[in-house]
Amino acid sequence: MWQILLANNAEKIYNICMEYIVKSLQETQELAKKLAKILNGDEIILISGDLGAGKTTFTKALAEGLEVTDLVTSPTFAFMREYSGRCKLSHYDMYRVEDEDELFELGLSDNLYEAGVCVIEWNKFTEFPDEKCIIRIEITKLGESERNFDISTSTECDCLEKLSI
Ligand SMILES: Nc1ncnc2c1ncn2[C@@H]1O[C@H](COP(=O)(O)OP(=O)(O)OP(=O)(O)O)[C@@H](O)[C@H]1O
Ligand SMILES: [Mg+2]
Repeated sequence: MWQILLANNAEKIYNICMEYIVKSLQETQELAKKLAKILNGDEIILISGDLGAGKTTFTKALAEGLEVTDLVTSPTFAFMREYSGRCKLSHYDMYRVEDEDELFELGLSDNLYEAGVCVIEWNKFTEFPDEKCIIRIEITKLGESERNFDISTSTECDCLEKLSI
């Protein structure tokens, strides 16, 4: 069951927050696909959680929901991989990245400024384009296959309202 929490003194950009508890891998995949369906294609999704929480697993299902047909693999060593679906998907894993300058120098930050959805695990970027919707997803491992999803969005993003319907 979705729970909408409206934080009364939230920072300017993160004002809507939802919590969702899933009991299984399949429920995580369903949640990711549901989110994928309502994305406009101009979102940056910052996905956090401990090692093994399910960030890549969630992203794979999100990619499926975005109609990506290529195999999605963890970009840990490549830092970023891009895919074509109903919109472009750029999947970052910044776990092994020192800081954002490393990706600027490699030209891998350009995708943030282009059309498409970016999903970033272990984010180290400090700035994002104003016109992009920012969605923060924090996954907490509650058990072997139980996870808590805490999702918040920037004010101009209406996808959580759509997700709750
Ligand atoms: N409900 C669930 N949601 C997500 N993953 C689950 C769930 N239940 C079990 N799992 C398992 O947990 C593991 C999550 O691994 P995954 O690589 O997605 O984690 P990660 O957060 O990306 O880790 P890392 O920080 O190392 O990149 C997978 O083996 C997945 O099958
Ligand atoms: Mg991962």
